[in-house]
Amino acid sequence: MGTATGKQGVELLVVHAAELVTCRAPGGRARGEALDRLEVIRDGALAIRGERIVAVGPTAELAAHYTASTVLDATGRLVSPGFVDAHTHLVHAGSRHDEWQDLVRERPVAGIDAGIRRTLRATRAASSAELRSRALADLDVMLRHGATTVEAKSGYGLDHETELRMLSVAAALDHPVEVVPTYLGAHVLPPEYADDRAGYVDLVISLLPAARRYAAYCDIACDPISFTAAECEQIAAAAVEHGFRLRVHADQTGDASGTALAVRFGASSTDHLDEATPDAIAALAGSDTVGVLFPGVTLHMLETVPGSARPPLRSNRPAWARRLVDSGATLALSTDYNPGTSPTPSMQTVMQLAARLYRLSYAEIWHMCTINAAAALDRSAEIGSLEPGKRADVVIWSVPEHGVVIHRFGANLVDTVIVRGQTTVQGRAARAGGDGRQT
Ligand code: NIG
Ligand code: FE
Repeated sequence: MGTATGKQGVELLVVHAAELVTCRAPGGRARGEALDRLEVIRDGALAIRGERIVAVGPTAELAAHYTASTVLDATGRLVSPGFVDAHTHLVHAGSRHDEWQDLVRERPVAGIDAGIRRTLRATRAASSAELRSRALADLDVMLRHGATTVEAKSGYGLDHETELRMLSVAAALDHPVEVVPTYLGAHVLPPEYADDRAGYVDLVISLLPAARRYAAYCDIACDPISFTAAECEQIAAAAVEHGFRLRVHADQTGDASGTALAVRFGASSTDHLDEATPDAIAALAGSDTVGVLFPGVTLHMLETVPGSARPPLRSNRPAWARRLVDSGATLALSTDYNPGTSPTPSMQTVMQLAARLYRLSYAEIWHMCTINAAAALDRSAEIGSLEPGKRADVVIWSVPEHGVVIHRFGANLVDTVIVRGQTTVQGRAARAGGDGRQT
């Protein structure tokens, strides 16, 4: 589309970003030394045509080549890719704030599996309309906090009817955020099958064909509170036969060989890893499976508090996280948004906690919430970085530098969100040039 000026016409130009972080990485994943090397363009610009990014670079360069019907002045603002939240339990009903107060007050508490069964009762009792309206409201919050792609699991139905209902709700959410449904029939054993583990594994497998209509992913919880490696192996093999890609809730409350299972099956991700053994971490490092970590769970379950009713699974979280990073594995961060172990829907909060609890660097955290999280959903060729050809999912921030987003905490610093080239959250940057930004 040439113009009289010889410039290419595009629909949207974002110019004069104090910093533009592309978050791109060789091969669509940042691992090893690349994890700590973030590409930052000062006085950066972005050209968008339709749903796609056509150019990224210094403002002087893009202004010479492109002209646009809409120009957003991002002076004094950071521009970044939208976040990818690769692990959530978005669709659910009820709240578990009451039992959490017992944890806080160091009173006796039931296990995570008992909590999941409580949410199961609330979710079974909820109508599809109730599940849908709550999920949509949560997606609004996630979007306003900078997420533009969100994975959403079933796993609070654990019967034929409710599992499929959760998936049909997740698959049909009409929202600017892209939702990626995952079938998590193998979350915990439901009460009706307390004495029939094999029967429940058979049920999970029998639902695979119907679940595949809504979901391309099957998640399996390989954990002492959930399913054994042998049970998971049976489900994983059947899921692969039905054309699913795999994800694993692995080794959260103890070593159940979940990470090793994920690597063996070429899973897209293995998530939690709290109790993954050194051998399992080495296997992960030699694979393309993405390890997903949840600082929201670490904080919310009070694992950091000495003498808490639930003592730390790992006595030294920074050393645990550094061992994972140094192994060379591909790692991502996610909310694990759910009413029990991590009731935060905010990827910004996750970033802020990852620095404080895991001592990760700004560059590491940005990659882990964008390009590596996209890799965990097998979408790093499409989303997760600002590069020509990719979907134009972009956040314009009220602060000028990427480190400020992590250094601050407790306030939403997103100004404007562009999804597929459309301004979807209209902040000050999208309304008029300039005011409201911070320097
Ligand atoms: O943290 N094994 C599953 N663990 C879930 C807990 C969800 C909940 O407490 O409702 C998780 O991912
Ligand atoms: Fe989870």
